[in-house]
Amino acid sequence: MANTSHCSCSFLLCLLCITIFTRSSAASTEADILLSFKASIDDYRNYLSSWSNTSTAHYCNWTGVTCTTAPSSPSVTSLNLQSLNLSGDISSSICELSGLTDLNLADNAFNQSIPLHLSQCSSLETLNLSNNLIWGPIPNQVSQFGSLKVLDLSRNRVEGKIPESIGSLVNLQVLNLGSNLLSGSVPSVFGNFSELVILDLSQNPYLVNEIPSDIGKLEKLEQLLLQSSGFHGEIPASFVGLQSLIILDLSQNNLSGEVPQTLGSSLKNLVSFDVSQNRLLGSFPDGICNAKGLINLSPHKNFFTGSIPNSIHVCLNLERFQVQNNDFSDDFPEKLWSLPRIKLIRAENNRFSGQLPDSISMAAQLEQVQIDNNSFTSKIPHGLGLVKSLYRFSASLNGFYGELPPNFCDSPVMSIMNFSQNSISGHIPELKKCRKLVSLSLADNSFTGEIPPSLAELQVLTYLDLSHNNLTGPIPPGLQNLKLALFNVSFNQLSGKVPYSLISGLPASFLQGNPGLCGPGLPNSCSEDQPKHHTSGLTTLTSAMISVAFVLGTVMIAVGYFMFHRYSKRKSQAGGWRSVFFYPLRVTEHDLVIGMNEKGAVGSGGPFGRVYVLSLPSGELVAIKKLVNFGCNSSKTLKTEVKTLAKIRHKNITKVLGFFHSDESIFLIYEFLQNGSVGDLICRQDFQLQWTIRLRIAIGVAQGLAYLHKDYVPHLLHRNVKSKNILLDADFEPKLTDFALDRIVGEAAFESTMASESVLSCYNAPEYGYCKKATEQMDVYSFGVVLLELITGRQAEQAEPEGSLDIVKWVRRKINITNGALLVLDPKISNSAQQEMVGALDIALRCTSVMPEKRPSMFEVVRALQSLTPKTSLLNSGLSPLEEHSIPV
Ligand SMILES: *[C@@H]1O[C@H](CO)[C@@H](O)[C@H](O)[C@H]1NC(C)=O
Ligand SMILES: *[C@@H]1O[C@H](CO)[C@@H](O)[C@H](O)[C@H]1NC(C)=O
Ligand SMILES: *[C@@H]1O[C@H](CO)[C@@H](O)[C@H](O)[C@H]1NC(C)=O
Ligand SMILES: *[C@@H]1O[C@H](CO)[C@@H](O)[C@H](O)[C@H]1NC(C)=O
Ligand SMILES: *[C@@H]1O[C@H](CO)[C@@H](O)[C@H](O)[C@H]1NC(C)=O
Ligand SMILES: *[C@@H]1O[C@H](CO)[C@@H](O)[C@H](O)[C@H]1NC(C)=O
Ligand SMILES: *[C@@H]1O[C@H](CO)[C@@H](O)[C@H](O)[C@H]1NC(C)=O
Ligand SMILES: *[C@@H]1O[C@H](CO)[C@@H](O)[C@H](O)[C@H]1NC(C)=O
Ligand SMILES: *[C@@H]1O[C@H](CO)[C@@H](O)[C@H](O)[C@H]1NC(C)=O
Repeated sequence: MANTSHCSCSFLLCLLCITIFTRSSAASTEADILLSFKASIDDYRNYLSSWSNTSTAHYCNWTGVTCTTAPSSPSVTSLNLQSLNLSGDISSSICELSGLTDLNLADNAFNQSIPLHLSQCSSLETLNLSNNLIWGPIPNQVSQFGSLKVLDLSRNRVEGKIPESIGSLVNLQVLNLGSNLLSGSVPSVFGNFSELVILDLSQNPYLVNEIPSDIGKLEKLEQLLLQSSGFHGEIPASFVGLQSLIILDLSQNNLSGEVPQTLGSSLKNLVSFDVSQNRLLGSFPDGICNAKGLINLSPHKNFFTGSIPNSIHVCLNLERFQVQNNDFSDDFPEKLWSLPRIKLIRAENNRFSGQLPDSISMAAQLEQVQIDNNSFTSKIPHGLGLVKSLYRFSASLNGFYGELPPNFCDSPVMSIMNFSQNSISGHIPELKKCRKLVSLSLADNSFTGEIPPSLAELQVLTYLDLSHNNLTGPIPPGLQNLKLALFNVSFNQLSGKVPYSLISGLPASFLQGNPGLCGPGLPNSCSEDQPKHHTSGLTTLTSAMISVAFVLGTVMIAVGYFMFHRYSKRKSQAGGWRSVFFYPLRVTEHDLVIGMNEKGAVGSGGPFGRVYVLSLPSGELVAIKKLVNFGCNSSKTLKTEVKTLAKIRHKNITKVLGFFHSDESIFLIYEFLQNGSVGDLICRQDFQLQWTIRLRIAIGVAQGLAYLHKDYVPHLLHRNVKSKNILLDADFEPKLTDFALDRIVGEAAFESTMASESVLSCYNAPEYGYCKKATEQMDVYSFGVVLLELITGRQAEQAEPEGSLDIVKWVRRKINITNGALLVLDPKISNSAQQEMVGALDIALRCTSVMPEKRPSMFEVVRALQSLTPKTSLLNSGLSPLEEHSIPV
């Protein structure tokens, strides 16, 4: 107001002054409008800190604000406040910005009904409220948004019927109501949206309606997304009018009847066609990709004149064709197989007949074909092998016959091939070029001849099913080099010796029905199967071990002597008990024996004996493990061996505090850990542990094992890694126990004890049965099993309805059969940890590789696991492990 006095000056000056006035006033007004808009918003993370009257930045430079470029009078045209975790009120004050055309508040947490008052924004063209917490019905007054071109209310909780009044939004180009809770019938007003380019009503499971036929009038419509919304009835014949359509998705509804015969020919720009998972039937429109249809229906397109060969396609842009899980019959549209851009064809679970033509070679972009469970009858054409982009071809349960062409698996990216349950005959061609093949199923055909040895060169092959054929000859020995999780050759005519590692991890039923096969675990043992090759290896091994033991023994005696004198408080021979403590326990062995009788045992113990918890006079608790004294070691050796274990000092290995023994028993005294074992936790019904803690447990265990294997002198093997032998302290730091008991009880007694109780233990590596010598890799395998338990939340051996299945096989089968690692992750852990869990799963799978040499060392495992954790949480876990976690146990 003070400025008005200046207007008494000369004309020029006045003009100048008016300019200044309007500019500064406009500026302050728009900034104020923005500030008052901000005032009603909760900006929890302070993303709008630049929106401030003390800010030096011009408001046009505030976060999310865009102004007109005209420098003389900037005005706000667009607000993009997407993904800022904003909540609170969307105030109508923003409509005072007269030039505002775009308002994007998507991906925030606004919790309110549809902000009708925004219809006061006279210039508003785009309103994006996607992915908020908008609730309530679409009011009739939605018609007030007459100027809107883009309305995106997707991914909210909008409910109720779509009001008829929405039909007055005749300028709409995009209408997205997808992923809401809309219900009832859909009004027939879509014919009004003559400008509409995108219509999305998908994922509204309560919409119960036929597809409004007036949608067919939308000549500009490019995307029609109606999937998973409970639509029933037929696909309207009017769809033939959707001349601009690029994406059509009608999948997962309850549509019935036939696809309109004229439809295909009109969809000339179509890139993606998806009507999968409905109840559609009949023959598929002949015109779908056929020039004849084009001529009939689009006479104005007259560039095809004269005689038109049937082979001219109109679906030149088509990339994805999905009609699976319907009831289509008759011939599959053959032209589809040779489209230049086609990438994906899915037609499984229908009743299609017809041929796979040799012209499939022209589909140079084809990646994935699934036509299982139909009635295709033809030979597999040579052209298939010429498609170099194909990575999945699945055609089981059809009537394919004849021989496989030699190039059938020539695509260098081929990963999954399934020809099972057809009538294919002849030899299985050598597979050389598909080096990425993971899964090959040729089961239930009439193949003859031998299993091609070249299979052994396919390094990543994991799933091989050749069952129910007429194959002869031996199982190629090279196959045992593969990490096969499924190897099924049952019901053939195979003969000869089965390579051991192929059977060791797999059910014998995968070999049955081959009377000529022989080997351990099979009805026939091989006549030449005498163990004779061990001796020489064993001698060198033994002598090497003796010399190592000598050196180590010297070191041990020196260290042990030192420790003994440092800690041993008491050494007594009274009453047949001899004891050595490495820690000031201040009890007599008599106290211990009495105490154990009183307290009784906790847990069932392991194969080696029970564990007792004892309270010392000091109030301290110790765990005492009772072992049978097999008398393999003299008292002196025993002492030395226990000392070897007792001087281990690692945060992830339980301390051995001492021991005492008589002629019958050996008692090892360990520190006591109060949270029980990982195994105890996992077998509880309500097992729940955050991923960060599980990962920390895994890293701790891996570190403990790495220390035993490589850092500690002498190097030790644990030999009994399992979740029950991983104890947890109050902070959930894991500690390995029951380690290296072979040294206490002696090798022979150790082996017979293990064998008696756990010959079938799924913690044992597959080579456990036939490999004479314990190895680091066996510990690695057992660790992998524990890691799988942590990842899946399942016990290593869990009873299933169809019989108990060990966790390694369970996981491998899930992954192979469904091709989805995500299915094995413990569902009780939130999705945010998914990536780390998948990373850990990969490590666990490598640890549990059937072939020992493919397993990583424990050091590599530690590094790989650590690389999964973000830096910060590593720091946290080192310093104050549990500060930020509440542990629901
Ligand atoms: C800035 O805004 C705050 C609150 O919105 C107000 O109290 C203050 O007076 C304003 N300062 C100026 C310089 O406009
Ligand atoms: C916005 O900031 C840029 C530099 O960051 C500056 O060049 C421009 O003039 C500013 N715009 C306004 C309207 O202040
Ligand atoms: C988002 O804001 C809400 C409050 O509206 C707050 O509880 C939540 O922690 C915030 N989320 C993030 C990631 O900042
Ligand atoms: C609305 O915002 C979301 C989130 O960024 C975006 O995915 C969507 O495409 C936007 N809608 C329109 C119509 O542009
Ligand atoms: C949204 O607001 C309603 C009522 O104010 C409240 O009951 C509800 O819990 C809120 N929803 C969310 C997800 O915050
Ligand atoms: C369709 O649009 C016309 C104007 O173009 C309007 O008069 C009519 O009311 C609209 N229909 C509906 C159902 O809103
Ligand atoms: C599909 O429609 C049929 C009738 O046409 C009905 O009986 C059936 O319940 C519907 N299925 C679903 C899942 O809505
Ligand atoms: C094969 O498809 C039919 C429907 O066409 C379905 O009922 C049947 O379960 C499918 N068979 C298999 C093995 O998937
Ligand atoms: C397998 O081959 C034998 C002779 O080699 C033949 O007698 C038999 O019928 C064949 N079986 C099948 C299922 O093809």
